[in-house]
Amino acid sequence: MRFKSKKSEFDHFSRLAGEWWEKNGKFKVLHDIQPIRIKYIQNVINKKKLDKIKILDVGCGGGLISEGMSKLGAKVTGIDFVEENINAAKLHSSENNLNINYMVKDFEKEHIKSKFDIIVIFEVLEHLDDWESFLKKIKLNLKPNGALIISTINKNLISKFFAIDLAENLLNWIPKNTHNYHKFIKPEELEFFLSNNNFKKIKIKGMVYDPFKSSWKLNDNSKINYFCSCFNS
Ligand SMILES: C[S@@+](CC[C@H](N)C(=O)[O-])C[C@H]1O[C@@H](n2cnc3c(N)ncnc32)[C@H](O)[C@@H]1O
Repeated sequence: MRFKSKKSEFDHFSRLAGEWWEKNGKFKVLHDIQPIRIKYIQNVINKKKLDKIKILDVGCGGGLISEGMSKLGAKVTGIDFVEENINAAKLHSSENNLNINYMVKDFEKEHIKSKFDIIVIFEVLEHLDDWESFLKKIKLNLKPNGALIISTINKNLISKFFAIDLAENLLNWIPKNTHNYHKFIKPEELEFFLSNNNFKKIKIKGMVYDPFKSSWKLNDNSKINYFCSCFNS
């Protein structure tokens, strides 16, 4: 399939909804990189605690990032277009006594009115038909000087090999058909778009797997997975 349709993205994540909180399940990699992701967010805004900071977690899935930020004191809203994901997120947060505002929303079609200090979009852009329109819309929910924090996958033959051929098809780290090469985004494209849309202080940081330590780390190699942070004007 050349370009994965929105319906197949939806069906894919609906089928996996029961797996979000299985540490060794289908989302194991997201659990493994969770500490790096939370630390990255803290570093972008120079704060260890996120007390009362209003955060929107777009495409929150089962709420891994929403919970991580809520535990640091943030007021979190998590949205996802798959109802089963939001149900899993609500159940898990209530079992852990966390107060997170979860909503079923397709951000490509619907919008929300509130403005946020931080908007996090982790591992979502590479599942969208039109990430540029999506980000233009998201910008309307960001306060002036608010931070937009993204993680996604670069587009080149190395990222295709590692993220799809190896991680999905050979090692089964990620469920098969999670990713579609044609939807990957080069950091240069993302930076170009963000600066044309009046975002400032745009920074890119790579994340790589160290096979010798069997762990992930941040570094300057953004050839495969990378983070991008920037601030609203
Ligand atoms: C790979 S998961 C990432 C989950 C979470 N952000 C994380 O990193 O732990 C991608 C998520 O984006 C959601 N998603 C995809 N398109 C969406 C849309 N148009 N509106 C809202 N959520 C969407 C999917 O349902 C899925 O839960």
